[in-house]
Formats: sequence, structure tokens, C-alpha cells
Amino acid sequence: TKRVAILISGGGSNMVALARAMTDDYPARPCLVLSNRPDAGGLDTARDMGIATAVVDHRNFKNDRHGFELEVQKALEAAKPDIICLAGFMRILTPEFTAGWAGKMLNIHPSLLPKYKGLHTHARALEAGDAQHGCSVHEVTGELDGGRVLGQARVPVLAGDTPDDLAARVLPFEHQLYPAVLKRFASGDATPVMLGGG
Ligand code: GAR
Repeated sequence: TKRVAILISGGGSNMVALARAMTDDYPARPCLVLSNRPDAGGLDTARDMGIATAVVDHRNFKNDRHGFELEVQKALEAAKPDIICLAGFMRILTPEFTAGWAGKMLNIHPSLLPKYKGLHTHARALEAGDAQHGCSVHEVTGELDGGRVLGQARVPVLAGDTPDDLAARVLPFEHQLYPAVLKRFASGDATPVMLGGG
């Protein structure tokens, strides 16, 4: 059974979806939820679920990305994860940091990668006039949102959609996709998971 650390910055709905899935014969269990924001709603939820939590507040490391990452690294090493899942973690990690976890770190991103790396993905899909949108789980490398895609879920873009409408349509698919990908990944199976018809 693999030990999984989940990194969050906010509400943590993807963290909850992952943690809920990790029962019975699922090949992984949560060992830590770490947030870079002390007020992240997901921290309370994780505690309520009986998961160990840690906070490394990035605001204590102004202009000191290395110092921030050293603290994160320390907290992770104490929890001894086999796999790290970024789940709405809104800090960019340096290539030096991600290299230490190569092949062990996943991220969920709200677009059909390689489209729309970075922020404001829903607005960008609408501006482009895309007929389909969705989310991706990928391996984390030194390139932002750039590693191998391990799963995607597609949703349709409908006439009159706002970015919030699209976000709300995609999010439930994130909650299905991430646990499904992690399950395969933790079992050593890198076959991509494809969900939704769009
Ligand atoms: C999710 O939609 C996730 O895909 C996105 O933030 C949201 C976090 O929600 N991640 C990114 O934009 C990463 N750049 P959650 O805290 O409820 O899981």
C-alpha cells in the first residue's frame, strides 16, 4: 500500500475525493495533507477525516523560494510518502524540487493538456471557442503543467457558458478522474484513464 501526501492551497475538494477513495482494497492511503495557506478550508476537512496535516506558509518566505521548498521537503520527508498528489496547490515548484520526486508526483489541472497550461483555463477555453474542455492528471516535471498525461476527462462547452459554469461542469469530473488515475499509478499501471464524452 502506497503512502500519499496531498498538497493543497484552498478548499481541497480534490483532496477529499482522493482521501474518500483510499479505503478497502485501494492501493494507497493518505499520510499527510500539506497546505501553503494556514486558512485553507481543506485543512479542517483533512483533520476531520483523521489525516495528519501540515502548513508551510509561503508568506513567511518572501523572496526565498528555496527556504519555502526546504520546509515543504522536511514535512514531506517526515511523512515518508511514496507518491505526492498536488490538488489545487497554487505554488509553482522549482525544477530542483520536482526533480527529487520525479516519477512520484502527480498534479490535476483544469484543462485538456497540452492546452492552457497555467491559470484562467476556463476563460481561455471559452475565448478560443473550444467545443470541448476538461481536466487532466499528469506527472509533475520541471516544466509547468508539462509532464506525461495519465488521464483526462472531457465535458462539452455549451452556448452561453461563463468560466464559472465551465469550472462547475469540470470539477465533478476532476473528483472522478484523480482517484481513478492514482489507483492505476499506485499499482504501477501508466495506461491513461479517459473519462467523459464531451
Ligand atoms: C481545481 O479545479 C484544480 O484543478 C485547480 O484548482 C482547483 C482546486 O480545487 N488547480 C489548478 O488550477 C492548478 N493550477 P480544490 O481545492 O477544491 O481541489
